[in-house]
Amino acid sequence: MAKKKKIGLLTSGGDCQGLNAALRGVAKGLANAYEDVDFYGFTDGYRGLIECDYKMYEAEDFSGILTLGGTILGTSRQPYKQMRVVDETTSVDKVAAMKRTYQKLGLDCLVILGGNGTHKTANLLAGEGLNIVTLPKTIDNDIYGTDLTFGFYSAVDIATHVIECIHTTAFSHSRVFIVELMGHKAGWLTLYAGIGGGADVILLPEIPYDIDKIAKAISKRNDNRGKFAILAVAEGAVSKEEAKMSKKEFKAARAAMEYPSVSYRLAAELEAKTGKETRVTVPGHFQRGGSPNAYDRVFCSLLGAAAADLIVKEQFGYMVGFVKNEFVPVPLSEVAGRLKLVPADSQVITEARRLGISFGD
Ligand code: F6P
Repeated sequence: MAKKKKIGLLTSGGDCQGLNAALRGVAKGLANAYEDVDFYGFTDGYRGLIECDYKMYEAEDFSGILTLGGTILGTSRQPYKQMRVVDETTSVDKVAAMKRTYQKLGLDCLVILGGNGTHKTANLLAGEGLNIVTLPKTIDNDIYGTDLTFGFYSAVDIATHVIECIHTTAFSHSRVFIVELMGHKAGWLTLYAGIGGGADVILLPEIPYDIDKIAKAISKRNDNRGKFAILAVAEGAVSKEEAKMSKKEFKAARAAMEYPSVSYRLAAELEAKTGKETRVTVPGHFQRGGSPNAYDRVFCSLLGAAAADLIVKEQFGYMVGFVKNEFVPVPLSEVAGRLKLVPADSQVITEARRLGISFGD
């Protein structure tokens, strides 16, 4: 009889829609490939692996979760920078502890679902000799080596809906509205939701803005009898002046800022420049919540199945990427430590400009 397969699973970093759908995809793929497989689900991401905190699951336990938001395993943020740092109070060497858990349980592979930070640690573990396969998760869509991450299109749906709803109240009151969307470094979500929701101005971290250009775009709309205006602003948007600052100067400038986020500063500046009443809406974690949309359900299921295939073929040390509409193994060493940002000269930006959207530059 074939040896029982032992597969570890963990979800790490900020959650998003589709995590459960992807776990289900992996479990189904493996249950159909192997006669006998046990799943070790680590609680709250790498914390569970460090502390050997896990629950046993059978393939059937992953049934009925295709549409469920969040993650049944729980998640937490365990900064990569801290991974090599031995905990002073507990003297725990985290990397050694994770290896110990893996070896103690006799795992054949550890499947890791996560974003950028998660991938750095996954690469570290692969370098330590663990059999690792990962899946790209984040509403930010900023993981290098894949055209798409799961969670992205579900978040785009939500953010687009927010902008859509803001339209009616902005129209009624003839106001300027700023909708602040998630994305500190990458503006994919703001870009897509901005276009999908019909925003007049889209501000991304990748394209520093000039406040006068934004004020001009709003006034131009006014001249054309558009009495309201909608701005989709990524939480990581920066002004042209800020873009020139060193990291240290920028941090200090933002710490001294009297507003809770860039959007509130923009609102005050734009109100002063245009004379238009300006309001801010921040949907925040709402963007990561709830069920995956239909696209993500399909995408996560197929990603999971593709991950199972890598495990069966014993191809370890890879993320399942989605490149030019195909699922492909991407070496973790290529993914770790890199970001996929919106290229300022990409076709999406060019066509959006043709639609009359201002990027404030
Ligand atoms: O990585 C996804 C993300 O949603 C970012 O866009 C956002 O800035 C961040 O997580 C916030 O996460 P949390 O508040 O959970 O740390």
